[in-house]
Amino acid sequence: MNNIEFINGEKVPLEMHKVRVVQKLKLMPIEDRINAITIAGNNAHLLKNEDVFLDMLTDSGVNAMSDKQVAAMLEADDAYAGSASYYKLEEKIRKIFDMPYFLPAHQGRACEHLLSKVFIKQNDIVPMNYHFTTTKVHVELAGGKVEELITDEGLYVESEVAFKGDMDIIKLKQLVERGNIAFVRVEAGTNLIGGQPVSLRNMRGVSEICKKHGIKTVLDASLLSDNIYFNKIREEQCSNMSITEIILEISKCFDIIYFSARKLTSSRGGGMLFRNEEDYTKVRELIPVYEGFSTYGGISVREIESMAVGIDDLLDEDFVSQGPIFIAEITKLLKEVGVPVVTPAGGLGVHLNCEKFVPHIPKNQYPANSVMSALYIVSGIRGTERGTMSTDKNENGEEVFSKLELLRLALPRRVFTLSQIKYAVDRIIWLYKNSNLIGGLKFIEEPKVLRFFFGKLEPIGDWQQNLKQKFKQDFKNSL
Ligand SMILES: Cc1ncc(COP(=O)(O)O)c(C=O)c1O
Repeated sequence: MNNIEFINGEKVPLEMHKVRVVQKLKLMPIEDRINAITIAGNNAHLLKNEDVFLDMLTDSGVNAMSDKQVAAMLEADDAYAGSASYYKLEEKIRKIFDMPYFLPAHQGRACEHLLSKVFIKQNDIVPMNYHFTTTKVHVELAGGKVEELITDEGLYVESEVAFKGDMDIIKLKQLVERGNIAFVRVEAGTNLIGGQPVSLRNMRGVSEICKKHGIKTVLDASLLSDNIYFNKIREEQCSNMSITEIILEISKCFDIIYFSARKLTSSRGGGMLFRNEEDYTKVRELIPVYEGFSTYGGISVREIESMAVGIDDLLDEDFVSQGPIFIAEITKLLKEVGVPVVTPAGGLGVHLNCEKFVPHIPKNQYPANSVMSALYIVSGIRGTERGTMSTDKNENGEEVFSKLELLRLALPRRVFTLSQIKYAVDRIIWLYKNSNLIGGLKFIEEPKVLRFFFGKLEPIGDWQQNLKQKFKQDFKNSL
């Protein structure tokens, strides 16, 4: 994707793809939107997709597939064992990452489950730049403890730091001296802190320390596509490297690489690569127990075919740049008018900084989820809370306040058009100007684990009705 210059000097992100299959969308009146979010317990995950106009919940499993991926699905070789589709994928993926061993699993969290089960012992520590929701649960279920080693700058919401996903190397050095480390995990890019990338320099630093201490390094490559783009444009040493070379250099820093194919290859599934035969063999033993045979790993062979083709997109600059360039554009449009957003723009989506968007809502009333609910009401856009609601209570039942209160509006790749983006920007700006009308939420049903998936909340007071009235006053008959 390129920023093309128009005759008036305006720079516009121009799509390097065309749309050939479409899905009809519906934008319901505001009354119906309030009704839908009430039934969903103010939880974006419980909304029906048919009630959503622009689905910015995630990029997981909802990136647009290419024509070549869809065509490949027709060639799938259905076999319990030894499917030709699998061998195609295995060969491709081993070559791209230059790693000798590969295992499929049904999605990213399945990899986390198996890696945690095999490599974590009771009371082990798993240092990482930042946790992801499912990763943390699997580490803890296996008896381990997550230690986040993100640099201080990583948590500055607004900043100029190019690689806010970097791990603090000094803290890592201190921690590994203490022992009990199961493995060190790097997430590139980071999901919960605004899709912020990790530099190759930092990955090399982590690898050097771990090698010295004989500690395994694990890369969560689910969001690697955006990360590679940032390595290429923000990191001097990568600017003259091809994408293939950047991936190979990143790969050299790790013993194990796992990924969600729902994100990385615009298909469904997941997978793990191993440098060492012993690690591979240990994990392979569990594949038939939890996933299926090792030549499908719980993934349909049609999806395996589409993964084998989708992984090629990782090497295509038009593809890897599409998400970040669109995200940078929205971030710029919002920032220009003072809407608080995470900067610099990262991957995955645009992130609203809700601590500033609704400073009057305390953290125990879930400010980011309140903004999620309000934005859905005024626009039909569904985002995801990435803040205190996404952080479970501790073992004493106390609220654990998240370091950041973000509303993530994910930009699945090649899905939305620029006019839809402009609509989103317009409604976010309107909401920000009327943010004093947004109120807090409280749980009425609260699961103990990963509460953000199934928990239900209700508004504190009647702020949603007040918001509707102001919307109708300003937009009259417009949806
Ligand atoms: C960084 C990261 N790791 C792991 C996962 C889990 O992958 P999956 O949804 O395929 O289970 C995700 C999913 O969003 C993710 O963003």
